[in-house]
Amino acid sequence: MTDSALLTLQGVGKSFVHGGGHVQALRGIDLTLDDGEFVALIGASGCGKSTLLRLVAGLETADSGSIALDGAQITGPSLSCGMIFQDHRLLPWLTVTQNINLALSQSKLPAVQRKRLIDIHLELVGLLPFANAFPRQLSGGMAQRAAIARGLVNRPRLLLLDEPFSALDSLTRTRLQSELQAIWAYEKTAMLLVTHDVEEAVFLADRIVVLAPHPGRISNIVKVDLPRPRVRDSAGFVSLKASLLRDLESYVEAA
Ligand SMILES: Nc1ncnc2c1ncn2[C@@H]1O[C@H](COP(=O)(O)OP(=O)(O)OP(=O)(O)O)[C@@H](O)[C@H]1O
Ligand SMILES: [Mg+2]
Repeated sequence: MTDSALLTLQGVGKSFVHGGGHVQALRGIDLTLDDGEFVALIGASGCGKSTLLRLVAGLETADSGSIALDGAQITGPSLSCGMIFQDHRLLPWLTVTQNINLALSQSKLPAVQRKRLIDIHLELVGLLPFANAFPRQLSGGMAQRAAIARGLVNRPRLLLLDEPFSALDSLTRTRLQSELQAIWAYEKTAMLLVTHDVEEAVFLADRIVVLAPHPGRISNIVKVDLPRPRVRDSAGFVSLKASLLRDLESYVEAA
């Protein structure tokens, strides 16, 4: 743990009662995230990645341990944490601007400044020309861009992303990964990204946290010491990706 940690998880555990049984989703999670850091979370399906994000977002409560953001215990959802999901979750009857404005509903800023904030973030994700479009008029990639703008518009301390690009075709996914890396470099918002895509993790993250299943626990934390923007076919990239894949496969085989 570093003194400058933005997010600190200590001994976090979470279980669920399910179908008369008991599922230990997470056990003994110790993790810190520094201000402005980009951390990716990978691991087999069901190993507790989304549960971990939901705990940090304040959407679930841990059974044990503590989670603090900026030194304050997380007790529920707050504007300090933005969240982006696999599906864009835009309301179909509202325009892009109106959807993003919803995220500012707790803001005390006057309407003019809110509009300015929305425009800045639409510009950031390249959607300014679609400010008045409805979600049905956007492609999948554009809708996810709008979700990113909505997630950032409150200028959160931490942005949580749960497989944000997994429903997109590979070309759009690759492009959005590059855009997210540019947005992160520009905004300097700390990001915690859950992904199934090891290449996405290596492309984006400062550190990659590998979760092992049953119960979900941290098995490895890998620092990615490759210069940005990362080159997917460089030797360092390819070998790190291969070693992480071997790591993940060993748990699938063990299961
Ligand atoms: N609300 C819930 N009620 C009961 N069990 C749950 C609940 N949420 C999660 N679980 C269980 O906790 C475990 C971890 O689930 P979680 O969704 O966090 O996994 P994941 O790593 O995100 O999986 P995936 O990669 O498939 O999205 C699973 O066994 C799941 O069934
Ligand atoms: Mg999940």
